[in-house]
Amino acid sequence: MSKPTLTTESGAPVADNQNSSTAGVGGPIILQDQHLLEKLARFNRERIPERVVHARGSGAYGYFEVTDDVTGFTRADFLNTVGKRTELFIRFSTVADSLGGADAVRDPRGFAVKFYTEEGNYDLVGNNTPVFFIKDPIKFPDFIHSQKRDPFTGKQEPNNVWDFWAHAPEATHQVTWLMGDRGIPASYRHMNGYGSHTYQWTNAEGEAFFVKYHFKTNQGVRSLSADQGAELVGKDANSHQTDLLQSIERGVYPSWTLYVQLMPAAEAANYRFNPFDLTKVWPHSDYPLQRVGRMVLDRNPDNVFAEVEQSAFSPNNFVPGIGPSPDKMLQGRLFAYADAHRYRLGVNHTQLAVNAPKATSANNYGRDGLMASNAYDRHAKNYEPNSYDGPVQTDQPLSAPLAVSGYVGTHAAPAHTKDDDFFQAGELYRLMSEDEKKRLVENIAGGLSQVSRDDVIEKNLAHFHAADQDYGKRVEARVRELRED
Ligand code: HEM
Repeated sequence: MSKPTLTTESGAPVADNQNSSTAGVGGPIILQDQHLLEKLARFNRERIPERVVHARGSGAYGYFEVTDDVTGFTRADFLNTVGKRTELFIRFSTVADSLGGADAVRDPRGFAVKFYTEEGNYDLVGNNTPVFFIKDPIKFPDFIHSQKRDPFTGKQEPNNVWDFWAHAPEATHQVTWLMGDRGIPASYRHMNGYGSHTYQWTNAEGEAFFVKYHFKTNQGVRSLSADQGAELVGKDANSHQTDLLQSIERGVYPSWTLYVQLMPAAEAANYRFNPFDLTKVWPHSDYPLQRVGRMVLDRNPDNVFAEVEQSAFSPNNFVPGIGPSPDKMLQGRLFAYADAHRYRLGVNHTQLAVNAPKATSANNYGRDGLMASNAYDRHAKNYEPNSYDGPVQTDQPLSAPLAVSGYVGTHAAPAHTKDDDFFQAGELYRLMSEDEKKRLVENIAGGLSQVSRDDVIEKNLAHFHAADQDYGKRVEARVRELRED
């Protein structure tokens, strides 16, 4: 079979792809070698900016299948029939390190799902942790600066990590989670995913419910100890990527069962915890898990750079029947992601195959900009309202309205009766077996004992004491032991 002709980007045939053009044999290269110039220039531009957080990740396609009737709680079209399947793309990630970072490290994992529904793309951009470190988005850039590489040393610094936590007592719950056994998942397949925030569901009658999402892995939760993680990083820095890729290539499709916790909207105001505080969970005894469906991953992307790197998830991509709650963190995220995408990928990132709707099409009056495709009907009007056949609004609110009251100003989140920064961290500690507690204390003390300032260490110890006396005593004793060594 004859091979196709190699061409330049403009389609002209290439005569020589082995030797660049020179002025005579052994002379300097000439500027008119278009193929060489184009090849080198193109190569320089192959990488797009990495994500400012969650830079290192892996992606896969699959589907979501509804197994249980939830139409009493949401009118979301993709959840409206048992057995209905919706195509999806997921990107898992680590958070703090840069693109070349290793997989098997102690860090939360991103769990971002894009459902290509018939009513538009629904992005659920969660983590493998049900809670988070902070509860106000104004702290996010400071928090992330303290966890990522220090601009002077170029390394992640225990001093910065723990100094931030010393000033963030609300982080104690998530720190306990992260330093515990689940802090280093064995692979992306062996961890749960959580929406983490509270969202709002609205049913066909307009009734509102607050909802928390839980994806439980059907592979079983498996984690690595600190030593096992370090060993694996040495053997295969890309261990999570290897595991996901190979599992799907072998036809061993990973799956998760999706459950939700549902709170009737009227119960939110008087619940013992602020239901919109991202540092808190809703105990299952208050709001039990209800099954919704299962997610199966059955296809690897063809090109990591085009699909995984260029995938763009935004917590404000909702579909009718699902909307935001007043969680301040979530509200901040509703701005941050699409803004990041416009910087990282450009204004037309929504036209890339991985980000464009698949089961429906985008139909609006947004036009042009950098890298616009010429996909519009030449007669279509680019303004609205118009007297022609252009798309029109539905007049159907996507979700139920939220009641608000009070004055505009900088307010801390309202505290409910059981709200403090430590109670749920203590509850989590007391749930652990003796062995788990030992590993938790060892992991915390291993990091905290490397901090150079005593006042930072003391502030952190005070948080563990406040969560649980035994917890605080043990961490303190171990830190002192390691500092004396
Ligand atoms: C106010 C708090 C937060 C802000 C401002 C923020 C901002 C960002 C930004 C700018 C990105 C990079 C987006 C991109 O370039 O594509 C990102 C990625 C991500 N964030 Fe957040 N984030 C916040 C909190 C959270 C929380 C609480 C979660 C989980 C519950 C989360 C999960 C993720 C995930 C999974 C990604 C990676 C998405 C992907 O795979 O492309 N973030 N975040």
